[in-house]
Amino acid sequence: MSDLEFSLLVLPSILASLLFFHLLLRRNQKSYHLPPGNMGWPLLGENIGYLKPYKATTIGKFMEEHISKYGKIYKSNLFGEPTIVSADAGLNRFILQNEGRLFECSYPRSIGGILGKWSMLVLVGDMHRNMRIISLNFLSNARLRTHLLQEVEKHTLLVLGSWKQNSVICAQDEAKKFTFNLMAKHIMSLDPGKPETEQLKKEYITFMKGVVSAPLNFPGTAYRKALQSRSTILQFIEIRMEERIKNECKAEDDLLGWVLKNSSLSKEQILDLVLSLLFAGHETSSVSIALAIYFLQSCPKAVQELREEHEEIAKAKKQSQQMELNWDDYKKMEFTQCVVSETLRLGNVVRFLHRKALRDVRYRGYDIPCGWKVLPVIAAVHLDPSLFDQPQHFNPWRWQDSRGSYAHGSSTATSNNDFMPFGGGPRLCAGSELAKLEMAVFLHHLVLNYHWELADADQAFAFPFVDFPKGLPIRVQHKPFCVETTPTSPPTFPWKNI
Ligand code: HEM
Repeated sequence: MSDLEFSLLVLPSILASLLFFHLLLRRNQKSYHLPPGNMGWPLLGENIGYLKPYKATTIGKFMEEHISKYGKIYKSNLFGEPTIVSADAGLNRFILQNEGRLFECSYPRSIGGILGKWSMLVLVGDMHRNMRIISLNFLSNARLRTHLLQEVEKHTLLVLGSWKQNSVICAQDEAKKFTFNLMAKHIMSLDPGKPETEQLKKEYITFMKGVVSAPLNFPGTAYRKALQSRSTILQFIEIRMEERIKNECKAEDDLLGWVLKNSSLSKEQILDLVLSLLFAGHETSSVSIALAIYFLQSCPKAVQELREEHEEIAKAKKQSQQMELNWDDYKKMEFTQCVVSETLRLGNVVRFLHRKALRDVRYRGYDIPCGWKVLPVIAAVHLDPSLFDQPQHFNPWRWQDSRGSYAHGSSTATSNNDFMPFGGGPRLCAGSELAKLEMAVFLHHLVLNYHWELADADQAFAFPFVDFPKGLPIRVQHKPFCVETTPTSPPTFPWKNI
């Protein structure tokens, strides 16, 4: 067959096939009943509007406009992919509970690039399950009671004890110091203030700036610097790991020691696990503590009620001559739990999650095509006026039941299913109980020892990661709580003695 004959025969068939597939694709696309929405600009999609910073206690103009135009479920083009955005409580639950079956965790590639391919945030399937078991084991309730409560209190006091009378401090930085020191101790037995811990903290700050920046890997960008910090941090962890392997008898009771002894993870996997736990356990809790400090300074009635609750606990401890908080004390912090829940509901440290559809899914008449990105926006549910009365209002009492106790996990105004600050389903936050404990213990010593006010106007913004642009500057007055004692025994400040 000559070239000409070949072209005349084959080219039309190729063209016909292309046309056929094009029509098939269009027919398939047409047969989907997609939610309404706007796919935005080619390539850019609607990223600019979606990622534009807004006040953390709101859902932002973009979301507001989209929900009022299209409803709580809409289509868009975000993070370079066709996307279904959900501000619908039912769909969010459905997505999270069907992890691995209909949907799968799917964070942008850049997150894997910086946190590592073995990071828990990006792993799926069996490997995710293995890593999760290790994390849950290490953050179990039993460990919280026996180890972590004491550590949390010690690290709280270390930070609060450094505040000078009538000084201005950056509450967000102080909260970060607290959660970093706690995680560094718990994961690798690093002591606060030691040069190696401070060096790691410095690297970690650069690393964090890159995690939340645009993933542009060019000289001088925050992302490039973060990648460099990542390798410095990994080197640091690796050195500690090798010391442990050499020095078997000196096994520390920390995550690193436990993983080396009890798991068959490779060196690379352990490094990514340690780094991702440091990340997951440090940023979120510190911002939550800063948010609680911020919300409380504008709600004196809540501070008063908190103080009464904690004075009661401190008084009972004093009478039984105990110093350190124990699990029973923690369980008495009922109004504190209301403050914690309300802070998480209104502040929304984690605003949305990244998932993708593993197959075509139909939900309430809408199709979610296989392979599409799905974003359950948990913040939009927490700020939905049809679920939470006056959602923009900081109201810890909404979490009380009719007897005034903390209605475990549920607001009287709504079903507890709508409250998902820690996600849900098989990927529910592994550190949720630790996070609540950290917030409660920090608040305990804060309200017992300090009064505070904003030293400069500041408020939390969603970038979409939540941050106080000025670091939340507050002026603190040291007013320690004194228990009435017999004339012979001088008042003591428990935090000075630990
Ligand atoms: C108030 C503080 C915290 C909030 C709001 C929070 C929120 C979340 C959310 C929403 C997820 C789910 C991510 C997803 O499904 O894609 C998550 C996962 C996770 N969190 Fe937290 N978190 C907090 C504190 C902590 C702490 C203190 C730790 C301790 C190390 C921790 C460890 C983890 C881990 C390991 C995962 C991954 C779980 C998995 O994939 O199975 N978190 N967190």
